[in-house]
Amino acid sequence: MARTALVTGGSRGIGAAISKALKAEGYNVAATYAGNDEAAAKFTEETGIKTYKWNVADYDESKAGIEKVEAEVGPIDIVVANAGITRDAPFHKMTPDQWKDVIDTNLTGVFNTVHPVWPGMRERKFGRVIVISSINGQKGQFAQVNYAATKAGDLGIVKSLAQEGARAGITANAICPGYIATEMVMAVPEKVRESIIGQIPAGRLGEPEEIARCVTFLASDESQFINGSTISANGAQFFV
Ligand SMILES: NC(=O)c1ccc[n+]([C@@H]2O[C@H](COP(=O)([O-])OP(=O)(O)OC[C@H]3O[C@@H](n4cnc5c(N)ncnc54)[C@H](OP(=O)(O)O)[C@@H]3O)[C@@H](O)[C@H]2O)c1
Repeated sequence: MARTALVTGGSRGIGAAISKALKAEGYNVAATYAGNDEAAAKFTEETGIKTYKWNVADYDESKAGIEKVEAEVGPIDIVVANAGITRDAPFHKMTPDQWKDVIDTNLTGVFNTVHPVWPGMRERKFGRVIVISSINGQKGQFAQVNYAATKAGDLGIVKSLAQEGARAGITANAICPGYIATEMVMAVPEKVRESIIGQIPAGRLGEPEEIARCVTFLASDESQFINGSTISANGAQFFV
């Protein structure tokens, strides 16, 4: 029977590419989103992938949503914690709300997404936890104290989960994308974007499909021994 994958923030950007790539590999896929109903409806119409709306920052909503997905699509074998936001500001101007919004969504959101599926993975002796971190969690970034803290935190989460899950057939890995051509990056002023591209030895932004390729690799049954690792996909912009 085909395995089931859940992709948070799976209706747009990198997440949409991940959802489509997993479907193309034969997985049953469910994608979540936060509020953009129009984009989600369009995505389902185009791909046939079911979408579910909940806020990853809310534990009860996440748990209830995951129960619904498991009832309608199947027990979740692969979870891709991809949903994320930015609320950029230099530290001296960063508000407590900007800090909290990003922590709640990008870091607590990973806990809220993985915690409800973890017991089922342990029981079935198989699981793939894949967290979409960021190059800025590896190197830090001006005006992103909040975002960098969450993305560095993701790496701590997967390294710890890897140790807890290894004997139960569960792997946990992170992917650190560099700058990828999604709405998140295309929303920054063109001058800033040009300067970002100038810092990438590849001379271009990455494509969402290049991140999705990392996910399908980690999701496969054959990737069992790859556990607690971080894949950097950044066009040679930064080495750990
Ligand atoms: N783009 C890059 O260059 C880049 C680089 C490194 C890492 N990343 C990471 O990659 C991931 C995806 O980024 P992206 O550029 O594809 O972002 P995006 O285009 O802005 O899409 C974000 C997705 O996450 C969903 N989402 C946001 N907040 C949510 C919440 N509280 N609850 C549930 N879903 C929520 C959005 O739902 P709606 O459609 O309803 O808004 C959307 O589907 C993020 O974790 C980001 O930090 C991105």
